[in-house]
Amino acid sequence: MAQSTPRVWLITGSSSGFGRAMVEEVLRNGEIAVATLRKPSVLDDLADQYPRTHLLVVPLDVTNEAQVKSAFVKAKDVFGRVDVVYNNAGQVLLQEAEGTSMDRARALMDINYWGAVTVSLEAVRFFREENPKGAGGLLMQVSSLCAMKGVPKIAFYSSTKAALDLFTEVLAQEVLPAWNIKVHDPNSDR
Ligand SMILES: NC(=O)c1ccc[n+]([C@@H]2O[C@H](COP(=O)([O-])OP(=O)(O)OC[C@H]3O[C@@H](n4cnc5c(N)ncnc54)[C@H](OP(=O)(O)O)[C@@H]3O)[C@@H](O)[C@H]2O)c1
Repeated sequence: MAQSTPRVWLITGSSSGFGRAMVEEVLRNGEIAVATLRKPSVLDDLADQYPRTHLLVVPLDVTNEAQVKSAFVKAKDVFGRVDVVYNNAGQVLLQEAEGTSMDRARALMDINYWGAVTVSLEAVRFFREENPKGAGGLLMQVSSLCAMKGVPKIAFYSSTKAALDLFTEVLAQEVLPAWNIKVHDPNSDR
């Protein structure tokens, strides 16, 4: 993953799991991380370890559209561009469909689908209109095998990821080649 010119990565859901692991990997490789998360203090240990030239920690709840836009603005203010968006923030819900309240199911959709869609659309707009002309960018969606097959207790979780996969499949076809934007469609790997 080492690059001659360090890329700027914007990562959502950086507090734990895949998100934090990706932030650490980016930093280990000498690249630049814009680590976004709901509670920035969770990354105080990394902020103490890495200089501001390589790590910017930004508050972001992906269900808040204004915060999504503001995270990209902050990345541009500090680094001038964003090269890769790792669209990772999400929650798992393991519960039988009948036992799940509609409020809980809708809240999951707000994060895993609408939140990821909001980040995706801002990423594409930013790559095209805010990055240096022609630089483009890469949008990486974090989906799940649960999008491919339904098994008990994952009805709502699977639905959020299946919806995101279809959205991504379409978005990947709608970006024009001249924009130099790559949308990683997880379905293409399966
Ligand atoms: N683990 C697996 O086996 C697996 C398999 C396939 C796909 N995935 C997907 O991988 C992604 C990461 O999951 P993980 O396994 O690494 O779990 P995780 O450790 O629970 O990480 C989830 C991350 O998403 C964040 N998040 C949740 N709601 C958010 C919101 N509204 N706004 C911003 N961030 C929010 C969490 O932040 P807080 O700390 O603030 O809650 C956390 O940083 C998810 O999209 C998940 O669906 C996981």
